[in-house]
Amino acid sequence: ATVASVALLTTSVLADIPKCGPGSPCPESAPCCSQYGQCGVGAYCLGGCDPLFSHSMEACVPNPACKSADYQFKSLSDVASISKYLGDPSKANWVSSGNPAAYGDSILLTMAPDTVGTLMATTKYVWYGKISATMTTSQGAGVVTAFIMMSDVKDEIDFEFVGVDLDHAQSNFYSQGVTNYNNGKNLTVTNTVENVHTYTIDWQPDHLDWIVDGKILRTLKRQDTWNSTSNRFDYPQTPSRVMLSLWPAGLPSNGEGTIKWSGGLVDWNSPLMQNGYYYAMVKSVNVECYDPPSGAQIQGSKAYIYTDEAATNNTVQMVDKVVVLKSLYASGENPDFDPNASASGSSPSSTPSLSAETVPGVVGAGERSGEDSSGGSGSTNSDPSGNTQSGDSSGSSGTGSGGSTGFSQGGSSAGGNSGASSDKMVKGSVFAVVVAAIALLA
Ligand SMILES: *[C@@H]1O[C@H](CO)[C@@H](O)[C@H](O)[C@H]1NC(C)=O
Ligand SMILES: *[C@@H]1O[C@H](CO)[C@@H](O)[C@H](O)[C@H]1NC(C)=O
Ligand SMILES: *[C@@H]1O[C@H](CO)[C@@H](O)[C@H](O)[C@H]1NC(C)=O
Ligand SMILES: *[C@@H]1O[C@H](CO)[C@@H](O)[C@H](O)[C@H]1NC(C)=O
Repeated sequence: ATVASVALLTTSVLADIPKCGPGSPCPESAPCCSQYGQCGVGAYCLGGCDPLFSHSMEACVPNPACKSADYQFKSLSDVASISKYLGDPSKANWVSSGNPAAYGDSILLTMAPDTVGTLMATTKYVWYGKISATMTTSQGAGVVTAFIMMSDVKDEIDFEFVGVDLDHAQSNFYSQGVTNYNNGKNLTVTNTVENVHTYTIDWQPDHLDWIVDGKILRTLKRQDTWNSTSNRFDYPQTPSRVMLSLWPAGLPSNGEGTIKWSGGLVDWNSPLMQNGYYYAMVKSVNVECYDPPSGAQIQGSKAYIYTDEAATNNTVQMVDKVVVLKSLYASGENPDFDPNASASGSSPSSTPSLSAETVPGVVGAGERSGEDSSGGSGSTNSDPSGNTQSGDSSGSSGTGSGGSTGFSQGGSSAGGNSGASSDKMVKGSVFAVVVAAIALLA
């Protein structure tokens, strides 16, 4: 059970959006398979687009290459809404779904009632590196904070924080989304809500460390991950985005196992909420890129692409090709497509459908613009009202526009159904959880 936004999904859309996964790639009209296992165009073809289940490997745009940086989150100026971003990594270093809010020298990941929280992801990918997040978590039953690395083929390295256990960080890893119940380990920390800690993932080709405040608490060696069934190392080895998220694992529409793992159902009237939302607070993220591994196929320096279905370290190529979409109706197969430009492009070989979904996890780009105009788009609704801004929670009783527009978690109407398949989901990767969530809602 990780990340993000398991469920930036709504029932209304689930019925219509083509699904993708092993054995069922996306159709030409909606060629890109999102990280949630659904097909579309536009933002579906950017970060998180899975080349293995898309219409072709070219449908997903190349992954912009790593750039070392120290992100101090003093404002939202470097965070683009996923419904506005077209894939130019020089325009923004972060993309968000949900409602991030600027607050003092931090960004709040917010989670208000009727939302599925907030997800921020880098626009650039890391192919081995040392990544640190300095942050505090949220708290409460069913409330999960996460700092993870995830690749488009669902290799994953996680720090997860369950809101009923403030003295542990759960470390975990996945290889191509395959669930393995033995990969998780609890790491002892002190109160993740009260204390600002720095969580670090030091990811190298042959080993990986989970570090808290400079102290190595867990090491994984690649050589210990050999899988003799699949004949490869089940070790995270593909270019990955840095992701920060706050999401409601404790929703009735989620599987029983997920709900239990997260400490129970979310209380949407909890005193732990402020300004009408749960929040985690991220001060900074530091990314130190390592050199591409020795033996890597280097043919450029600007982006990573997959060249083979194996999606292993030695089939990733580094190239000079960066693709920016002309519109949210374009895809990697037809990047210049823009239905509003007169005589766009030169008779494209494939024309995406205008009715395809354009932004994964929301009903469509249109919904999001409504949100922006209602002032709920984060950049304006931030302030826990000028009060004491650190640690203790007095004050801040603002009206909090908290941004409950935008995403509606479709599960609410399906209330209380107890997923039969659910116990299996406890430690499933995003991919597993999402697939299960779709099954439950559909
Ligand atoms: C981590 O601790 C929690 C309780 O705090 C427990 O439910 C979970 O099973 C533990 N995970 C592992 C991998 O030991
Ligand atoms: C080995 O790989 C196979 C195929 O991907 C997978 O089903 C199995 O769970 C893996 N084994 C372990 C121990 O993870
Ligand atoms: C990929 O991993 C293998 C081990 O599976 C290693 O021998 C090789 O050097 C790695 N290659 C790259 C490019 O990382
Ligand atoms: C074309 O532009 C108009 C106005 O900017 C907009 O409302 C409409 O949604 C756009 N159509 C498409 C298909 O992008």
